[in-house]
Amino acid sequence: MIKKIGILTSGGDAPGMNAAIRSSVRYALYNKLEVMGIYRGYAGLINEELVQMNHRSVSNIINLGGTILKTARCPEFFTDEGQKRAVEVLKKNNIDALVIIGGNGTQSGANALAKNWHVPLVCIASTIDNDLNGFDYTIGSDTAVNTALDAIDKIRNTSTSMERIFVVEVMGRNSGFIAMQVALAGGAEEVLVPERKFDYESLCHDIVNGNLRGKVSWIIIVAEGAASAAEVSKQIQEMTELDVRVVTLGHIQRGGNPTARDRILATRLGAASVDLILKNQFAKTVGLVGEDLKVIDTEVAIQKKKIEVDYFYKLIRVLT
Ligand code: F6P
Repeated sequence: MIKKIGILTSGGDAPGMNAAIRSSVRYALYNKLEVMGIYRGYAGLINEELVQMNHRSVSNIINLGGTILKTARCPEFFTDEGQKRAVEVLKKNNIDALVIIGGNGTQSGANALAKNWHVPLVCIASTIDNDLNGFDYTIGSDTAVNTALDAIDKIRNTSTSMERIFVVEVMGRNSGFIAMQVALAGGAEEVLVPERKFDYESLCHDIVNGNLRGKVSWIIIVAEGAASAAEVSKQIQEMTELDVRVVTLGHIQRGGNPTARDRILATRLGAASVDLILKNQFAKTVGLVGEDLKVIDTEVAIQKKKIEVDYFYKLIRVLT
């Protein structure tokens, strides 16, 4: 019988993680479970940084970005030593189940732990990159897209006024999700993503031809996994002799208050994770498909996700 659960956030923080923590903690307490918060993700697990959580521990956090449990990237957790140490800490503290909130790297860690620790273990799909296979949206991705879009709208004001080319780099180490979404929503003229090959010659050819047709400003979105904005800008400048400005949005995209959509998703997923724990589910990930929650094997969630690229790319180019 499950009496005590642990909860942690790991990897890159995502807006809405706090709403998920709040929901898991309070839903678990409602179900008479004891809850231990684990600080700093897997690093805190290995170092035994645990804290007892109660109803009040999660007061007034539903609106906050980041994670009150802190987070970290922890390569040590992927070693045999790290795994052994984690299991030791969990056993020592009588933790009978884990809720793990995070993205691809975090869930790969959970999958590794599941091979060494055979107790209920449920992951909540949460990353701004939205790169977990099998799900439509992960916690934080909606907020990140809206944050980036807000910045791009502002860049468009100056780009139009000064008739300039802007190359804007958005996050997404292995995924063009944010780039594609903001390119569509922001009316960008070009988008470069890791899922689609591009070459500078045809990019510059398009820019020069566009300018001949009377275009005077360009917003080119680049996913960090495709190229750096600095490199793209250098190439355009060298090949066209046009004036280019570079903006790297960076970690701004990870911060800020979560949107209503992310808070609602996080709240649903937090409660669902505890329901799954109570049903003794093991190495499962819960996330959103359409408007419904879906549970899949964590092993499947960490596989490479395919996103729609060709159709959206074509649409962006047609509408330029
Ligand atoms: O959390 C995902 C992410 O924001 C990626 O988009 C980005 O490549 C990476 O994290 C940056 O990680 P860090 O903050 O550790 O540099």
